[in-house]
Amino acid sequence: MAETPAAPQGERKKIIFSGIQPTGVFTLGNYIGAIRHWGPLQEEYRCIYCVVDLHAITVRQDPAALRRRTLEAYALLMACGLDPEKSILFIQSHNPHHNQCAWALSCSTQFGELSRMTQFKDKAARYADNINAGLFTYPVLMAADILLYQTDLVPVGEDQRQHVELTRDIAGRFNGAFGTTFTMPEALISRSEEGARIMSLQDPTRKMSKSDPNPKGFVSILDEPSVIMKKFRGAVTDSEAQVAYAPGKDGINNLMRIYSVFTGRDLPAIQEEFAGKGYGDFKSAVGEAVVQGLAPIQNRYKELMEDKAYLERCYQEGAQKAMSVSGRTLEKVYKRLGFLHK
Ligand code: TYM
Repeated sequence: MAETPAAPQGERKKIIFSGIQPTGVFTLGNYIGAIRHWGPLQEEYRCIYCVVDLHAITVRQDPAALRRRTLEAYALLMACGLDPEKSILFIQSHNPHHNQCAWALSCSTQFGELSRMTQFKDKAARYADNINAGLFTYPVLMAADILLYQTDLVPVGEDQRQHVELTRDIAGRFNGAFGTTFTMPEALISRSEEGARIMSLQDPTRKMSKSDPNPKGFVSILDEPSVIMKKFRGAVTDSEAQVAYAPGKDGINNLMRIYSVFTGRDLPAIQEEFAGKGYGDFKSAVGEAVVQGLAPIQNRYKELMEDKAYLERCYQEGAQKAMSVSGRTLEKVYKRLGFLHK
């Protein structure tokens, strides 16, 4: 991320934490808004990345599919450049400290705060027959994920900003009541036009989501080239037929942002490139750029999935490393709360 603050020389390396749900193959939204930034951060920061399977069950999951998707998500993160030698890369349910810390934090979180979370309101509307307590307390578990590692920066897409803000409120309240225990984290969100929020290809007023019931709305990063091309050619746009970034042109704006990410060209340059050309040409060009950009990730993913023993070794070691960090914070939390030593 161009606006990523540089890690100061000579001081302790800042800590980065982020997570992703294994609820389906990652979309272009996940990739552009979050994951593509995670690899480069490994060079300067102490990075901890997590497949958040505990969060995934706030929506009913098929157990066999969840197991498969968790491994796939783990491999996909590696295929996107996360290196288990450079970062701690683990699966959330393998580290019980997250559940333990979440309980402690839930007692420092107000009902009213959780009621205001827009993701809760959206999901409660979408899954009206299963508005479970986990869906409601989801942000508390996310706060535990972040605070257990004394995280400084949380690279996420725009939609997660509110959860990181709540994490800060919870940390501040706990620190105020019991003495400084947690580092105050900050969201790290791409401030450029390109990428903080990638929209559905079928309804560009909604964010692209892997749980969209209409698969034409999202591109998954493992989609075949022909499928990617088809989805972009069918993307919903306006009827002006002018490739220009402007208010109200949500569909075209979204495609321009995607194209910008994959070609490195800025929005005025894209507008110039397609001056006098129709939307058909533009949509095909976006599709081709995405196909090309994703090819190395798709190839690496296939290789990784052929070596399950290696993946298993990586996630087991990842969990051990994660626990050795989070255990120190949890111990401090228990002590501060007044739990009798075992
Ligand atoms: P999740 O799994 O929904 O998404 C993972 C990351 O992808 C970003 N993202 C997007 N960015 C731009 N445009 C989009 N259309 C788009 N869709 C998703 C998200 O902002 C996110 O960064 N609650 C989190 C997972 C989580 C987490 C954490 C994140 C659990 N614990 C601790 C950070 C720190 C979530 O559901 O992400």
